Amino acid sequence: MGKRVRTAVFPVAGLGTRFLPATKALPKEMLTVVDRPLIQYAVDEAREAGIEHFVFVTGRNKGVIEDHFDRQFELETTLEMRGKTKALDELRKDLPSAGRTSFTRQQEPLGLGHAVWCARHIVGSEPFALLLPDMLFKGNPGVLKQMMDTYEETGGNVIAVEEVPPAEVSSYGIIARGDGPDSNFAITQMVEKPKQEEAPSNLIISGRYILQPEIFTLLADQPKGAGGEIQLTDAMQTLMKSQAFTGVKYQGQSFDCGSKIGFLTANVVYALDRDDIREGFVAELRKLDLGEHF
Ligand code: UTP
Repeated sequence: MGKRVRTAVFPVAGLGTRFLPATKALPKEMLTVVDRPLIQYAVDEAREAGIEHFVFVTGRNKGVIEDHFDRQFELETTLEMRGKTKALDELRKDLPSAGRTSFTRQQEPLGLGHAVWCARHIVGSEPFALLLPDMLFKGNPGVLKQMMDTYEETGGNVIAVEEVPPAEVSSYGIIARGDGPDSNFAITQMVEKPKQEEAPSNLIISGRYILQPEIFTLLADQPKGAGGEIQLTDAMQTLMKSQAFTGVKYQGQSFDCGSKIGFLTANVVYALDRDDIREGFVAELRKLDLGEHF
């Protein structure tokens, strides 16, 4: 029903202060869960959902993300000479093909809303997906694919949500839920980082969006909001006056890899899910005799 979503934006210009000192020189989005950088998981999720153009909003110290999505001829030649064809195939499979990536810079980390606005000329006047790569989702199909299925019915703007304990709502963007099933319900209100007693629900905006391009016009004039940052949620709340927003309570598990606990948990869960790692990993965990901690 809606215009097809072909482009995904990945804002990767944040400072990652919760993960210092690891993120002093290394972008948070290049931290690895098992052996893949967070940004690769987000790109894979977007590709599974049919995305064709990958737009990265980067900042200082983030050049390595651009390198990650480039060919590395010395490495490829060496792998080829050593007959490591499986590793070579994996590397090539991970790369978006030529001309399908774009990079722009957010010169100052003024907030997520500002980072998204920096992509306006690359995205143009089409709907686009937005993925925050530090939020890692384990879903089958992936969360963006689940949202695309909803978008095909609804058009407009689509947001993935999940429940958190009520005491945690003040750390997130929160929505109010209107009518409809978990896979397709009306969103009636949004507020960024509300006090617990003022939050309209415990459903958080969890890091995956499908947005209409009119959001860019609103972001251009968006004053600073919570935390002194230009907040995407504030601009979406304004856009709600003229466009529909649909919520998807997605199927799957999320890990906030911008936090240390979420990141460590993701590593354990993803390692236990890997056929080539599970057995050896469990054996090492057993040796640690962690019983006293549980
Ligand atoms: P976060 O809210 O996790 O912020 O951003 P952060 O600055 O990266 O990390 P902390 O809170 O200081 O530890 C969510 C996503 O939005 C991007 C980040 O790179 C991350 O992918 N972002 C945030 C920007 O691109 N620009 C900004 O100004 C803020």
